[in-house]
Amino acid sequence: MISTLKTRLRQMRREGKAVGIINAIAYANYQAKNMRDWVNAGQMKRLLDKRAFAPDTDKLVTFTMNEGGGAIRPLQNPWEISELMKRVRERAPRVIVEIGTAKGGTLFLFCQHAADDATIISLDLPYGRNGGGYPAWKEKLYRKFAKPGQSLFLVRANSHLDETRKRIEDILQGRTIDVLMIDADHSYEGVKRDYELYSPLLSKDGFVAMHDVIPNRFDPEIEVHRFWEELKAATNTEELVHDYAQGNLGIGIVRPT
Ligand SMILES: C[S@@+](CC[C@H](N)C(=O)[O-])C[C@H]1O[C@@H](n2cnc3c(N)ncnc32)[C@H](O)[C@@H]1O
Repeated sequence: MISTLKTRLRQMRREGKAVGIINAIAYANYQAKNMRDWVNAGQMKRLLDKRAFAPDTDKLVTFTMNEGGGAIRPLQNPWEISELMKRVRERAPRVIVEIGTAKGGTLFLFCQHAADDATIISLDLPYGRNGGGYPAWKEKLYRKFAKPGQSLFLVRANSHLDETRKRIEDILQGRTIDVLMIDADHSYEGVKRDYELYSPLLSKDGFVAMHDVIPNRFDPEIEVHRFWEELKAATNTEELVHDYAQGNLGIGIVRPT
């Protein structure tokens, strides 16, 4: 019901109808969600401080989905994100870059599956497309995600800018990226730009994960699948899709040769 309404409103906005009102509704909805997260953040902080979660991948995913009133619920299919995290743990990455953090669920999971001394960089644009970024107050919550020996950097900027890539390079100080997650601007040009800017920084045996690789039945502005088809034709890829009939989501993994 709600997703049908959202689809209809998005369509109206594309047609240029009631754009001001629809944008105001979207903004109010975003603020209401953050207000709810603020109410739940205290409980989540306490759980994180006590490290009240098991290290097992499936349990960690369940934790993000259900605990703390959903304050850090990932925008993912549980099976798909769980499969991705199993591959992350296998790779034991020492450097992870996530483009698109939103409520922080995937960032938390990346921290838990990275090496104990890993550097994890989150890159997210405040009020960005597809999720709207996160308000500054959430930084305090996200900083609790890292394990004691890890370094976590929260960069709130537009990933498409050359100056942002320079900021990431400055943090990396010559190190390469073992796992790069692209889950931000879902337009064809946007996802391509992220791939072209950041995948050259990948380690030899590193990989790129990309979200929303199957055609989206609900939102035609999500065009990741178009770029994904090009990658599939040209490189070594793997798809993590729980059910091809689900009509959205799906994670693609690229291991550039
Ligand atoms: C779908 S959400 C990320 C969801 C998160 N990975 C998860 O699964 O819980 C997409 C995020 O990308 C951010 N974003 C969109 N365009 C961006 C850009 N050009 N640069 C950086 N972040 C961007 C949005 O602000 C939003 O928070």
